[in-house]
Amino acid sequence: MFTAENIFLISCFIVLLLIAFVLSKVTSSLKTQTDAAELEEAHEEINLHKNVFLFFAFLAIIIFICYNVVVKTGTQAHVMEWLNLIVRWAHVTFGIAWIGASFYFIFLENSLNRTYKLRDELAGNLWAIHGGGFYYIEKYKSAPPELPRQLHWFKYEAYFTWLTGFLLLTLVYFMNAKAFMIDPQVRDITPGTAIGIGLGTLVAGWLVYDIMCRSALIHRKTLFAIIGFALVVFAAYFLSHFLSGRAAFMLVGALLGTIMAGNVFFVIIPSQKALVAAAKAGKPVNPDLGKFAGLRSLHNNYITLPVIFVMISNHFPTTFGNGYNWAILGGLTLASVAVKHYINLHEKGEKAVWMLPFATIAILALVIVTAPKPPKSAKDLPPVAFSQIQPIIKTRCTQCHSATPTDDTQKTAPNGIMFDTPEQIKQHIDRILVRAVETKTMPQGNKTNITDKERELIGVWIAQGAKME
Ligand code: HEC
Repeated sequence: MFTAENIFLISCFIVLLLIAFVLSKVTSSLKTQTDAAELEEAHEEINLHKNVFLFFAFLAIIIFICYNVVVKTGTQAHVMEWLNLIVRWAHVTFGIAWIGASFYFIFLENSLNRTYKLRDELAGNLWAIHGGGFYYIEKYKSAPPELPRQLHWFKYEAYFTWLTGFLLLTLVYFMNAKAFMIDPQVRDITPGTAIGIGLGTLVAGWLVYDIMCRSALIHRKTLFAIIGFALVVFAAYFLSHFLSGRAAFMLVGALLGTIMAGNVFFVIIPSQKALVAAAKAGKPVNPDLGKFAGLRSLHNNYITLPVIFVMISNHFPTTFGNGYNWAILGGLTLASVAVKHYINLHEKGEKAVWMLPFATIAILALVIVTAPKPPKSAKDLPPVAFSQIQPIIKTRCTQCHSATPTDDTQKTAPNGIMFDTPEQIKQHIDRILVRAVETKTMPQGNKTNITDKERELIGVWIAQGAKME
């Protein structure tokens, strides 16, 4: 009952409920401030937020109940897989909406006509054609003289991407810390420690970033970028020395995603609210507000490509399974930020000749440094027979990869991959080499205690042509 997973879920429930409670108090103390229409608007918004928190508190309890009903029964993997599917689907959908909007608005900002036949009050305008219609957009220098009846905001994409992302992190990693977060060969920690490191990274990472943004550093763009990048590499280095490579990557991604969502929630939306309030009151608008919000939004724009890589990285054990996985993550971050920079400059009509070649060379370099080293002259070693390999696969892999798995969490063969017969083994030689010999990312969390000698033997057998006799 008092496992790390349960304590975590119950804490989530309590925290969410507390936030909802505080929000309900806020609504009742709003009364005296503004005029009736604004009051109603504020009420509606806080109520909405309260309901979202209540919904997620409710969800935490549902997961808690489901988890405790199915844990260690034959249906755990089945139920968790469906939860995973639904939440991932939602997460990807919200993420596409968010990043799509982010790309679109940065494109807009970069491509505005800022000089040709502009009215005085405009910063720029833009014509576009899409879906069979012409669109004409104008950007104001500051607030328009009269605020429109309906103003569209873009924030729920960000909030829901983060919330579903956190839920997914919970379902896949925190609720299954033993299998997905802990690698005894990296460090033998308890699930509680692993979850603590995960949560601590998100909170500490956001705080450090936010302090950097509020310091004088924000005015020195290049230095900010260099320090920011160094900190990302440091986070990856730190995490990869405590957690499995896969979890370390995912947490760096979750940290970057948290920074992006935090920027929206704590800075961009509040500044926009202040802008709207100033405009409504007919007061001059503080131009700094828009500027700082704009900077955070630009940071988000640069962070997107590295985050997207991390989110797909669990398909690529060559990256997270490498001994220098933190450096590979650093390299990919650098290359993808260069690509984004190229796109941004290109949209502004500026030249950035060396950005794409730089990114290409960086990625080529990664391809080369991650190349597996051929086992030393396997041809000269005594021949390894299949009869030596099959027992290894049987004891180390078929606990999960079988038509009838005996593992406590994997109740169906992962990715449909089974090693029950020699033909099935033969069919997956290439991936066995990658996962069990080169990247050592299988058996998962080395749950079946394969030895380095056995890995080597499999490697030699494959190098000698994987003969089946
Ligand atoms: C404790 C359970 C478990 C054990 C034991 C295990 N695996 Fe896996 N395996 C998984 C899971 C879960 C996945 C899917 C997630 C992933 O790809 O990391 C998987 C996926 C795979 C894949 C498909 C993904 C790909 O990269 O092509 C291969 C191949 C594989 N394992 C090989 C092996 C080999 C070889 C062994 C034994 C040396 C082994 N596994 C032992 C759980 C296990």
